[in-house]
Amino acid sequence: MTTSRAQITKAVIPAAGLGTRFLPATKATPKEMLPVVDKPAIQYVVEEAVTAGLSDVLMVTGRNKRPLEDHFDRNYELEQVLRDKGDATKLSRVEESSDLATMHYVRQGNPRGLGHAVLCAAPHVGEQPFAVLLGDDLIDPRDPLLTRMTQVREQHGGSVIALMEVDPDNIHLYGCAAAEATGEDDVVKVSDLVEKPSAAEAPSNLAIIGRYVLDPAVFEVLRKTEPGRGGEIQLTDALQTLAAEPSLGGPVHGVVFRGRRYDTGDRGDYLRAIVRLACEREDLGPDFRAWLRSFVTEEM
Ligand code: UTP
Repeated sequence: MTTSRAQITKAVIPAAGLGTRFLPATKATPKEMLPVVDKPAIQYVVEEAVTAGLSDVLMVTGRNKRPLEDHFDRNYELEQVLRDKGDATKLSRVEESSDLATMHYVRQGNPRGLGHAVLCAAPHVGEQPFAVLLGDDLIDPRDPLLTRMTQVREQHGGSVIALMEVDPDNIHLYGCAAAEATGEDDVVKVSDLVEKPSAAEAPSNLAIIGRYVLDPAVFEVLRKTEPGRGGEIQLTDALQTLAAEPSLGGPVHGVVFRGRRYDTGDRGDYLRAIVRLACEREDLGPDFRAWLRSFVTEEM
C-alpha cells in the first residue's frame, strides 16, 4: 500500500478524446481548444492547476495535438508583430499561456478510454500522488476545489475524487458514488462507484466530476482493469477497485463540490458557460448584459 504524503506537484490533463459531441468543430481541432469567451477551455484548466500549486503539467494528447502544443508554446513572430506595434496588452495575452506552467506531452495512440489515458502518464508521474483534471469541466477560480482535494489527500492518504449532487434524473450521465459521511460536511468516504447507472440502479445522487487526486497505486490497478462500459478502460472502474480494496492504495474519499462548475463538454452547457463568463467579465460584461437583457425581453 502506498501511504506517501508527498506533496503533489504534477497535474495530468487527458485531452485525447474524440470530442464527437462537437463535430464538425472538432474534426480538425481538439475540443479543448474551443474558446470560452476569448480563451481556449484548456487554458482555464491549466491556470487552475497552477493556482493549486501544480506547475508541472502533462497533457495526454491524441490526433490533432498540434494546436494544444502550439497554444502553450512561444509564438515569436506574433510576439514581434505586437511588440513592433507597441500593443502591450495583446502581447501579454499571447505570452500568458506560454509562461504559465512547465508543459509536457505524451501521446495516447488510440483513445481507449480515460483510464487508459491516465495510464499513459505513469512514466512521467512515477511514484508520487498526482492530480487529474478533465478539460470538459471548468471550475470557477473563486471556488478552489483542487486545493481542498489536496488537503483531503494529505489528511487521509489514498485517492480523492470530486463529487457533485445532481438531479437523480441526470445521474445516468455520470459516474456515481456510494459514500458514507465523515466528520466533515464536504468530505465523504467512497465505498463503491458505478459508471453511468440508471436512476433506479444509482446508489446516490453524487456524480463524479472531472477532478481527481490519485495515489500512484492507481497505475497498477489500471494495468489490470479490463475494458468496461463502451469497450473503454474506465478510470471509474479502477477507482472502484481501490475503494473496495483499500490495502491496494489507501482509501478513496470524495470532496462534495458545491461551487460553480461549467460543463463545456456538452453543447448546451458550453453555451451557458460562455454567456455566464462573458456577463461576469469587467471588460465585456456591461455591454453584453445590456444586449442580453434586450434580446431576452424583445426577441424571446
Ligand atoms: P469524454 O467521455 O468526454 O469523451 O472524455 P470525448 O471523446 O472527449 O468527447 P465526446 O463524448 O466524444 O464528445 C472525458 C475526458 O477524457 C479524455 C477526453 O479528452 C476528455 O477530456 N479522454 C477520453 C482521453 O484523453 N482519452 C480517451 O481515450 C478518452
